[in-house]
Amino acid sequence: MKDVRADFPQLNRMIHGKRLIYLDSTATSLKPRQVIAKEQEYYTTYCANIFRGIYTTSEEATAAYELARTKVARFIGASTSDEIVFTRNASESINVVMNALSRTNLHGCEIATTIMEHHSNFVPWQQLALGFGVTFRVWNVDASGTLSLKDLEKFVTKKTKLLAVTAVSNVLGTINPIRQICHIAKRMNPHCLVLVDAAQAVPHMKINVKDWDADIVAFSSHKMLGPTGVGVLWGKKELLEEFSPYQYGGEMIKEVHVDRTVFADPPHKFEAGTPHIAGVIGLGAAVDYLEKIGMDAIRNHEIEISDYALKALATVKGITVYGPTNAKDRGGVIAFTMKGTHAHDIAQLLNEDNVCIRAGHHCAMPLHEFLKIPATARASFYVYTTKSDVDALVDGLEKIKKIFQ
Ligand SMILES: Cc1ncc(COP(=O)(O)O)c(C=O)c1O
Repeated sequence: MKDVRADFPQLNRMIHGKRLIYLDSTATSLKPRQVIAKEQEYYTTYCANIFRGIYTTSEEATAAYELARTKVARFIGASTSDEIVFTRNASESINVVMNALSRTNLHGCEIATTIMEHHSNFVPWQQLALGFGVTFRVWNVDASGTLSLKDLEKFVTKKTKLLAVTAVSNVLGTINPIRQICHIAKRMNPHCLVLVDAAQAVPHMKINVKDWDADIVAFSSHKMLGPTGVGVLWGKKELLEEFSPYQYGGEMIKEVHVDRTVFADPPHKFEAGTPHIAGVIGLGAAVDYLEKIGMDAIRNHEIEISDYALKALATVKGITVYGPTNAKDRGGVIAFTMKGTHAHDIAQLLNEDNVCIRAGHHCAMPLHEFLKIPATARASFYVYTTKSDVDALVDGLEKIKKIFQ
């Protein structure tokens, strides 16, 4: 893959005379200047509210906002841009669906998810099930951090209303076979909805929602080089039509009378109030940027870096890496523990060398409980990560090992 580091201004930052080694892209990605410039262009040349104005800058802003919707739709293989709803983040996208289901009768149903979910795709379903007093089922991973498809045949029942599953684990790195999962779930129960949390997939690999045959897909702009404050909810058109709106207010209506309101069609039905216009336009620029590099090139780069990192970490005594052992079976994220050293101490000491990693439960407490570990350290990679970044991580870990032994 072509070297893109010059596009990321933050990589020039020196702290205490040392270069920034950013290994936390799973939490959020850095932003290329092309995205920053596009957001700034909106604020400096055609800042106006969308949909409302019959004047040039408002029309320009509306066109740029809707163009971003078209780009996102094409990027994930949606049938039409009407299937793309802009939200605040992946969490809100999932909550839109949870809210819609909470307005239906779920008595006698089951809600299902997996042990490897981020809290964003776990807590809404747990709370929905608790609210209705219905069964909440959790699909566990095996020793290699993988979900067994054989288990799925017993896991999805005629009562399963929804199966919520991540495409890529933000801890184990496991890439789940979403197409097969959707296929099996529908075979076991044609009425089961499958919601895919694609927050760690869309930024890193080519995905196509139609190939997956999922019903709903959620992800965030800020993890795919785009601005913070923008999320995406893709849903099959008929489902979005059926779902109740999440919030009420301006822009999401066709007619309002004293005694009743007629809601707008999707996606506008779900976008109450003034959205993050600049952010959405910036997301469009991020999609352009990713497409220019090519999603296959990005995926191959991450496999190469992950493979290098897995081999390098294996040379550090006392390190345990979680999740699949082959880089091809995982996204660009590696969670690990180091014997005798708490994950927080690892992250804090690495920071002295300006190496940025995460430590803790990574919003996946049920998974950590299942693995019987309080916390992991996590390094994650993206388009700008180099092997020398990984070397800096490993050098830092060797230094830490000496301190703690
Ligand atoms: C797999 C996964 N799902 C959902 C989320 C939530 O994303 P957001 O905080 O943008 O809503 C994250 C964030 O780390 C994630 O990794």
